[in-house]
Amino acid sequence: MSGIIVVGSQWGDEGKGKVVDVFSAQSDLVVRYQGGANAGHTLIVDGKKTVLHLVPSGVLHPNTTCVIGPGVVLDIETVYNEIKALQEAGHLKDSSQLMISDLCTVIMPYHRQLDVAREKAAGLDKIGTTGKGIGPAYEDRASRRAILFADLFHKGTLEKKVEKSLKEKNLLFEMYGLEKVDVGETVQQLHKLSELLEPYRCKDTSLLVSEAIGSDKKVLFEGAQGSLLDLLHGTYPFVTSSSTIAGSACIGSGVGPGQIQKVVGITKAYTTRVGAGPFPTEQSNDLGQKLRDVGKEYGATTGRERRCGWLDLVALKYAIRVNGITNIALMKIDVLSGIEDIKVCTHYEVNGNKTEHFPITIDDLENSKPIYETLPGWTEDLSSMDDISALPDTCRSYIRYIEDFLKVPVDVVSVGPGRNQTLWFNPLF
Ligand code: GDP
Ligand code: IMO
Ligand code: MG
Repeated sequence: MSGIIVVGSQWGDEGKGKVVDVFSAQSDLVVRYQGGANAGHTLIVDGKKTVLHLVPSGVLHPNTTCVIGPGVVLDIETVYNEIKALQEAGHLKDSSQLMISDLCTVIMPYHRQLDVAREKAAGLDKIGTTGKGIGPAYEDRASRRAILFADLFHKGTLEKKVEKSLKEKNLLFEMYGLEKVDVGETVQQLHKLSELLEPYRCKDTSLLVSEAIGSDKKVLFEGAQGSLLDLLHGTYPFVTSSSTIAGSACIGSGVGPGQIQKVVGITKAYTTRVGAGPFPTEQSNDLGQKLRDVGKEYGATTGRERRCGWLDLVALKYAIRVNGITNIALMKIDVLSGIEDIKVCTHYEVNGNKTEHFPITIDDLENSKPIYETLPGWTEDLSSMDDISALPDTCRSYIRYIEDFLKVPVDVVSVGPGRNQTLWFNPLF
């Protein structure tokens, strides 16, 4: 049993890309299991930046096979451009390094248009989506009218399905004042790209992943977004349209829960959120701006400013529960250097009552006031430290405080975006 799930424990952008790239040096397979090109996972290797939206973050290791599982909504233009850019940079030389499941839902151009049109029509009530068509694509999957990756290779089926889908979509387009979409043109566009993607087609990725685990290969499951953006357990309706929590790794890749050895919660040493929705520990002040500047907190997909605030242990305790997080990778702790008093939220006051539990309804969450504990900070630059023993005492105390409060061990601490800026407390496998 050697499956490890890497899951974001906050509102996304915790540093999953960096962790998966580092963990991939010890892994045979990396599987993306949900989400789509709304994700932006950043890898910095030898000072060179690679941003991945769909290709799994193990791709810079030529001996690691990358799988895009059935739970992913696939934007075929984005994935093709990503493949091309990787190849131009000298990666992905062998097409068998990347396998795309026949069961993936294809994001159609009209999904993206509908996403943007709905957000525009919502005005101030908008969710702040990435505009990548994620919601409309998952809707089509649930209502059994999705176009699957396999359909791209059967022209007759594809044409019929697009025609059926557009009958309804064109009515919606009319409602939003958009031009009608033509079946023939849509199919033509898809046809060109599908030819280019055929070498990456893998009919049954569930079989591939299960056989790998069965033969004791080391498999990473790479989550996208974060736990609080989960469709069921997140801050609904300000969430994405897939299940982002660890259980989704099994559903989205087609393996059983018994195959999972541990669940690593990727956790920023403070909190960020991009898009609308409640964020109890948000700091809309100089401190928030400092975190944004030092942590370079701007979206990897949309370039939007990320909202920034203190670490929220109430929300994290909830994330540990709903995911079954067994270990933590604590990211971006270097960003906190130079802050004299560091606050962590340990409880909320909800409608006058103190609680340690994260409220599950949006009304209660919007009425939650954070209660903080203050911990001493440190002034040293952590980014060139290459061993745990070099960390200042107050930084080690901050890490211990988090571990003791959450009752989950911190296995890895990240002190910069690069591969070697990673300090290990415990081995991965
Ligand atoms: P993801 O969506 O979870 O993969 O995270 P993003 O890539 O969207 O955002 C994380 C950002 O932080 C990226 O720009 C990373 O290069 C950067 N990063 C990751 N780990 C660290 C770290 O420990 N310290 C600093 N300063 N930056 C980091
Ligand atoms: P990674 O994988 C942070 C947010 C959007 C919006 C909400 C719904 O890089 O951590 P959607 O386009 O999914 O319908 O938007 O979810 N969101 C993310 N926030 N990181 C992400 O991915 C996100 N993917 C979606 O900002 O609030
Ligand atoms: Mg991101």
